[in-house]
Amino acid sequence: MTAAHPDPQALLRLAVATAHEAAELVRQGRAVAADSVDAKSSPTDVVTAVDTASEQLVVGRLLGERPDDGVLGEEGADRPGTSGVRWVVDPIDGTVNFLYGLPAYAVSIAAEVDGVVRAGVVLNAATGELFTAVAGGGAFVSGPAAPQPVRLGGSRPASLEQALVATGFGYRVEQRREQGAVVAALLPRVRDIRRFGSAALDLCAAAAGRVDAYYEAGLHPWDHAAGALVAAEAGLVVAGLPGRPFAEPLAVVAAPSVADEFLALLAELHP
Ligand code: IPD
Ligand code: CA
Repeated sequence: MTAAHPDPQALLRLAVATAHEAAELVRQGRAVAADSVDAKSSPTDVVTAVDTASEQLVVGRLLGERPDDGVLGEEGADRPGTSGVRWVVDPIDGTVNFLYGLPAYAVSIAAEVDGVVRAGVVLNAATGELFTAVAGGGAFVSGPAAPQPVRLGGSRPASLEQALVATGFGYRVEQRREQGAVVAALLPRVRDIRRFGSAALDLCAAAAGRVDAYYEAGLHPWDHAAGALVAAEAGLVVAGLPGRPFAEPLAVVAAPSVADEFLALLAELHP
């Protein structure tokens, strides 16, 4: 393989090793998480010193191994690179869960090659559960209780009425008002709604068939880059609103058996 065409499996191995190191830092930082908290886009959109330290560790490890790569991180890392590879990093996805000690916060690392995500890892730092995917190579989960990777294949709900749907909400008040109206209209049309608090883990939950679908408006690339590959490689439909790309503005993943109906309903609810 040349530098311009790196092996996605090699990129995944580096991402997994890096995510484990970052998750260890995040776990150790939990006890002091509340000591150093700053607000970002709104008073409830927070960043802790641990988010920043995790991003620094991840960027340092990745660029230490591959100095010509680019990187984009939630906490400010942004450099173009020259190798054709760009890493997209969420150092803690689910920061509010992290702050409150709810066990759903993850390190998310994706490797784009020429602008397309080819490898992704989402590691739940609280539980040690690890989701991985390589483009064309399937999606897998492993964890402390079951170290052997298990291939993911989503779920097959019989109808949208039977579908368990995860979603999330942004941090700006106006955005939340709109998202609340959409979810209120959706609730009577599906089995139930879940809000876990980490977009990366929501996407992996859909890949694992723990929910049948997930949607959210206004995500950033670091929220979805790795998780959307995991969902796609698990065989889910990964889409946006009709005629719009995924996550611009709506990110949707759904089991194929309900995807068309779900996308049509979301299009109706997002005028
Ligand atoms: C947030 C989480 C949340 C989602 C928000 C994201 P953060 O990321 O993924 O579930 O609803 O849209 O911003 O702030 O925890 O990294
Ligand atoms: Ca995030």
